[in-house]
Amino acid sequence: MAARSTIRLVHGGRIHQIDNIAPTMTVLEYLRQIRNLTGTKEGCAEGDCGACSVVVGYLDGQRLRYKAVNACIQFLPTLDGCQLLTVEDLARPDGQLHPVQTEMIRQHGSQCGFCTPGFIMSMFALWYENPGADKAAIKDALAGNLCRCTGYGPIVSAMQTALGQRDYAMHEAETLAQLQEIRPQTQLLLDSDKGVFVAPTSTRELVAAIKAYPEATLLAGGTDVGLWVTKMHRKLPVIIYTGKVKELGKTIETDDEFSIGAAVTYSELPAALSQAYPDFEQVLRRIGSVQVRNLGTIGGNIANGSPIGDTPPMLIAMGAELVLNGAEGSRRIPLEDYFLAYGKQDRRKGEFVERVIIPKPGAEQRFLAYKISKRFDQDISALCGAFNLTIMGGKLKAARIAFGGMAAIPKRATATEDALIGKDWNQAAIDAAVIALKTDYQPISDMRASAAYRETAAANLLRKAFAETEQAPKQTRILA
Ligand SMILES: Cc1cc2nc3c(=O)[nH]c(=O)nc-3n(C[C@H](O)[C@H](O)[C@H](O)COP(=O)(O)OP(=O)(O)OC[C@H]3O[C@@H](n4cnc5c(N)ncnc54)[C@H](O)[C@@H]3O)c2cc1C
Ligand code: FES
Ligand code: FES
Repeated sequence: MAARSTIRLVHGGRIHQIDNIAPTMTVLEYLRQIRNLTGTKEGCAEGDCGACSVVVGYLDGQRLRYKAVNACIQFLPTLDGCQLLTVEDLARPDGQLHPVQTEMIRQHGSQCGFCTPGFIMSMFALWYENPGADKAAIKDALAGNLCRCTGYGPIVSAMQTALGQRDYAMHEAETLAQLQEIRPQTQLLLDSDKGVFVAPTSTRELVAAIKAYPEATLLAGGTDVGLWVTKMHRKLPVIIYTGKVKELGKTIETDDEFSIGAAVTYSELPAALSQAYPDFEQVLRRIGSVQVRNLGTIGGNIANGSPIGDTPPMLIAMGAELVLNGAEGSRRIPLEDYFLAYGKQDRRKGEFVERVIIPKPGAEQRFLAYKISKRFDQDISALCGAFNLTIMGGKLKAARIAFGGMAAIPKRATATEDALIGKDWNQAAIDAAVIALKTDYQPISDMRASAAYRETAAANLLRKAFAETEQAPKQTRILA
């Protein structure tokens, strides 16, 4: 099988070739320790503070795209075929600063300056990608960057002003040509005494790689796996990266369903899916931060088996199915059957998650989903509730209700569903269902919430879903 043994990435206007590195070397380690580029800072080393934000350039068809990511948890080999931009790269050789830099200086958007390089890079990505960004979009783009001294007012204001200033040479033609030149055509295989990193480009190569390295760690966005290295100091000697597998990065839409590849990131999920399930999108935009959503994948959120992952309860309520693939062939199972027990999933040795299939909602279906966490942005759920209801002629004809954070796995509320289906959709039915809900789950107390809080909040989410369907039987719910 043809393979390359050198990472190629564009940085500082030229192509760099890198080999003989540990597969888990982070982009931040590479910048600070190998390249002595110390503008990019380390705060938390777990994707939470944004001090390490850098920008990754990549080809989207023939287009150049930029996204902000957390360098502290992204492994360097995943940048094969990409451009890396750091705070050192924005000023032009003649001293001209980028508009976001000029405005941060002019509007006093920095005090101690520790967070500033990270802010600048998040701002640059927004400046490039969304020149028409409104205040809400700016706040969303900066929610993954923490500042402990300046206060966000001047930073948001600097961003607003900079958006209108487009007099900055991007040298896109040169970058596009370089990215075309290093576009990965064959799989990357780094194999040295420091470890192994394989980046297959097709599912066929992925199956072969898993067969060749049965003990390998599968890596997608690395927003979980990255922390195993930076926080738990785990050694991962062999990594198979799914991010370059073409089929896993594709979304296919038919009349009946969305078929989403496991390596599709939250940011890449199609707009049509958000239109079909507006509440899904509302919860998605509260997963981590823009930097986390630019890396984290839907497949990773399912495969990790977390009881508090945000997408599984919603996908279970939608009636999603999972396609698993491996050397023994592929199989399709209801997503709810994938989660067996805490830390245990129905994934056979050598299998990987290939796709998640989401049915399109029928005309009478209402989908409501709620994430409860201590902060609006950048926080893991205490619980997440999803309600897929078919209400016809005042009766509940069908229901799929699922919660995360209420059990050791994301789980359907079958007793609650049974208490409601076929009944008049009214307050009396909800009161009865709230009693049934107590039998569906025995939540635990942990640092995110007490068992009593979870039980009360889950019942209140059911009441909230009822109230919302009463107020707006067909209408889409828009959160402030
Ligand atoms: C700062 C921060 C905030 C976060 N906030 C949230 C949040 O609000 N809500 C939430 O739900 N999660 C959150 N997360 C967790 C994480 O971002 C998500 O679970 C994400 O979807 C994981 O996807 P990934 O692609 O990064 O997975 P990875 O870290 O690459 O992998 C996760 C696990 O899945 C396995 N895996 C990956 N792909 C496959 C595959 N195709 N087949 C089989 N196994 C596979 C890996 O081996 C690993 O065990 C947060 C993480 C961080 C760092
Ligand atoms: S150092 Fe905090 S997000 Fe990377
Ligand atoms: S300026 Fe000090 S942390 Fe932001």
